[in-house]
Amino acid sequence: MDRFVVVGGARLAGEVSVTGAKNSVLKLMAASLLAEGTTRLTAVPDILDVAIMSEVLRRLGCTVERGPGSVTIDVPTELSHEADYDLVRRMRASIAVLGPLVARCGQAKVALPGGDAIGSRGLDFHIAGLVKLGAHVESEHGYLIATAPRLTGAQVWLDFPSVGATENLLMAAVLAKGTTTIDNAAREPDIVDLCQFLVAMGASVEGIGTSTLVVEGVERLSPVEHRTLPDRIVAGTWAMAATITRGDIYVRGGRAEHLEIALDKLTMAGALVEPGPDGFRVRMEGRPKAVDVVTLPYPGFPTDLQPMVLALNSVADGTAMVTENVFEARWMFVNELARLGADVRTDGHHAVVRGREVLSGAPVKAHDIRAGAALVLAGLVADGVTEVADVHHIDRGYEGFVDKLVALGADVRREQVEDEQPF
Ligand code: UD1
Repeated sequence: MDRFVVVGGARLAGEVSVTGAKNSVLKLMAASLLAEGTTRLTAVPDILDVAIMSEVLRRLGCTVERGPGSVTIDVPTELSHEADYDLVRRMRASIAVLGPLVARCGQAKVALPGGDAIGSRGLDFHIAGLVKLGAHVESEHGYLIATAPRLTGAQVWLDFPSVGATENLLMAAVLAKGTTTIDNAAREPDIVDLCQFLVAMGASVEGIGTSTLVVEGVERLSPVEHRTLPDRIVAGTWAMAATITRGDIYVRGGRAEHLEIALDKLTMAGALVEPGPDGFRVRMEGRPKAVDVVTLPYPGFPTDLQPMVLALNSVADGTAMVTENVFEARWMFVNELARLGADVRTDGHHAVVRGREVLSGAPVKAHDIRAGAALVLAGLVADGVTEVADVHHIDRGYEGFVDKLVALGADVRREQVEDEQPF
């Protein structure tokens, strides 16, 4: 239960590198289960979630080795088909093994993840889709049990373009008998990365990058080597960091084309965004202007950057409305931001933020990865010291966060916290 101690006031300047996307690599690791043999992934971030997914795969019978920036997964002929609660509750993305396990083993028993800090996050689309593909799915003693001797292609419509459901259904459909169409599919770059990985393995997927994915099932897939796409949320976090601290950061590896709306919002806030040969630069002078934001599935403004934009608006000139359409409970973060003096009022999907000249440092708590990162950004522009507790959440998604902040000129350190007293 470490914490970050952030001393406000520094202007971040310099260069920072972005590695592979968390949300991509976790699904690529799950997809490796679809092919017997050795899959190698590169540009793998050194983050806690990759360690958790490695453990999920080991318990399924795989040999998983981590190298610097890589992971090698040796998938045996016979797999176990059970993902335990102790891992799934630590990382919801573990449910990405559901589709590949049913496809490969004809059965899967995966713990239900339960609620988390950003909302209820159902699995109904995952389940309905698998049922359409011919699986029998039931929930028993906290586990989802899916069985299907051989999945068969079907037409699946998603009520909402869910990232996780699109991925699970894609991974199930690639080994199903016949054609599967996934309509209203999510279009996130992570999905495109997964599709390209599956195609390299021998799968047939058409409509990649669109909301209609057509999958022609094949008999078997082969393991491949694949480079994970860069993390657009981490890149976006650095862009926000430059803007909020009135700094100047070159985000090496950041793909501006995956962040179009987010970078446009920063431009409206007053930042100068320039493309570079292998990334982009964000420069900011003066106080940011308030910007209205509405989160939506890709290519809309990403919900994962919503906490950062709330932090930005809390020190901006003017009043902004931020609307959250993807995760209803993401406002939990607002109470922590208010401890730093931010003036935010929420009503249903909307938050109204009245910008303050300056925030005021205080002890706060990270409830999830993105809220944690946003609290650090707020701490960078708060007067005095901000202590961000429960930073294991930040470790789940940001490689070397403190070191990178320090290299950019921030006054931040990590502190170990002794066991808390009962009262
Ligand atoms: C993924 C990302 C997360 C990101 C989110 C949206 C990973 C590990 N996580 O999460 O960082 O914030 O996409 O871009 O990749 N829903 C249902 N029923 C379902 C599935 C989803 O009601 O069966 C709802 C969810 O509660 C939520 C919305 O759909 O309100 C979007 O969820 P989804 O796109 O599935 O997010 P995740 O894949 O969980």
